[in-house]
Amino acid sequence: MARSCLAVVLAAGEGTRMKSSMIKVLHPVGNLPVICHVMKAASGAGADTMALVLGRDADAVRDAAVPYGNNVSTFVQEQRLGTGSAVLAARTAIAKGFDDVLVIFGDTPLIGEETLGRARAALAAGADVAVIGFRTENPFGYGRLLESDGELVAIREHKDATDEERAINFCNAGLMAISGDKALSLLDAIDCDNAKGEYYLTDVVEISRRAGGKAVAIDAPWEELIGIDTRVGLAEAESLWQQRRRRELMLAGVSMTAPETVFVSHDTVISPDVLLEPNVVIGPGVEIGAGATIHAFSHLEGATVGANCSVGPFARLRPGADMQDRSKVGNFCEVKKAVIGEAAKVNHLTYVGDAFVGAGANLGAGTITCNYDGVNKHVTTIGQGAFVGSNSALVAPVTIGNNAYVASGSVVTMNVPDDALAFGRARQVNKDGLATTLRRRNEDEKQRRQNDNSQGSGR
Ligand code: UD1
Repeated sequence: MARSCLAVVLAAGEGTRMKSSMIKVLHPVGNLPVICHVMKAASGAGADTMALVLGRDADAVRDAAVPYGNNVSTFVQEQRLGTGSAVLAARTAIAKGFDDVLVIFGDTPLIGEETLGRARAALAAGADVAVIGFRTENPFGYGRLLESDGELVAIREHKDATDEERAINFCNAGLMAISGDKALSLLDAIDCDNAKGEYYLTDVVEISRRAGGKAVAIDAPWEELIGIDTRVGLAEAESLWQQRRRRELMLAGVSMTAPETVFVSHDTVISPDVLLEPNVVIGPGVEIGAGATIHAFSHLEGATVGANCSVGPFARLRPGADMQDRSKVGNFCEVKKAVIGEAAKVNHLTYVGDAFVGAGANLGAGTITCNYDGVNKHVTTIGQGAFVGSNSALVAPVTIGNNAYVASGSVVTMNVPDDALAFGRARQVNKDGLATTLRRRNEDEKQRRQNDNSQGSGR
């Protein structure tokens, strides 16, 4: 039978070095709060129950994190007395009895479920404590993992370490798995007799060994264990996360001309045979169908792009943009809350907002749906096969019928019936010969001004 697992996620840290009015675990990576990445990883590693330890901004963190976890209960750590006391804030959850207790810092967004799974596997294989560590050339500040004969003997905090111990570059990432039936007795035995006067979670290693237990270290890639302490760390995590996600997408059949310039979000869904050209930015809530091309410098958010569509270059799809198969939104176009029907074309310099564009319709350059009257938003409906001439303003609410024509430069304020041709502009008048008269008058005027100036400067 599968082993039961509680994940205790620590998120009570102040995060003062972020210099932010927002608590650090709510800062986003891939447009998802850091804490949510941690909850997802714990869930992927089989944590069926989760205890979230909160401090400042508890309500906001709870609201963000709970949807990404399983069976989440929350605890507030009243006094920040160290990582050991933080875990014990979730005492009642731990006391319910689980096979495995995973302790995870809420500020490590890149932690992989496979690595957490390896720590759990070590417990299943007989260890009482399995600590996740990483190797670094700059171990300053981290707790060092002291090993002997393949077992973990102790974790020595930097401040408490000897010079010899400080030379060790195998470091504690702060994440560990503890055997559920021993967890409370080990945690309760932690004291604060150390350089910082804190209750160190790391002490469970030595406490366990003194009681005859076994502790091991899990060697994990440092990239997974980056903790967010500053904005620099946040940017580093973002960069690593993007690299990882882009690689997954490419391996799943998505082409990228210059992957390092493409940004995606945590929930981006892209089908195979999509091409993302350089400098494409994809915000939350985007789905792109097979065979579509997103040309350079396009920005998409909350949008659906159907199969074999073409977007950009320099296009902006805002929330509610819904491009059906084979449709096109070209350069310098913005689409918001609008359906672009199958094979419809919105090619150049156009704004389509709060609209339905029928299949096969063609919107000429500079078409604007005037959807806002300063108070309310109104809908524009454009029938299938309709043709809207360039530089037309469609003043919503308005409907352009199926296969209708709108003459270029029209301001359309009335509905246009199916198959009708709408002229919404003043009729053109030609005055024969008047251009010559006009040009002569302008030249005379110019000559008069030059004469005035030269007389003035002679005085
Ligand atoms: C801890 C480890 C250290 C490890 C390092 C990795 C201990 C004693 N030391 O040190 O071995 O190398 O992480 O980054 O565990 N927290 C609370 N409540 C508290 C204290 C901490 O919730 O009272 C949370 C923080 O929000 C943070 C995490 O625990 O997410 C780590 O706390 P921090 O004080 O940064 O630990 P370090 O001193 O870095």
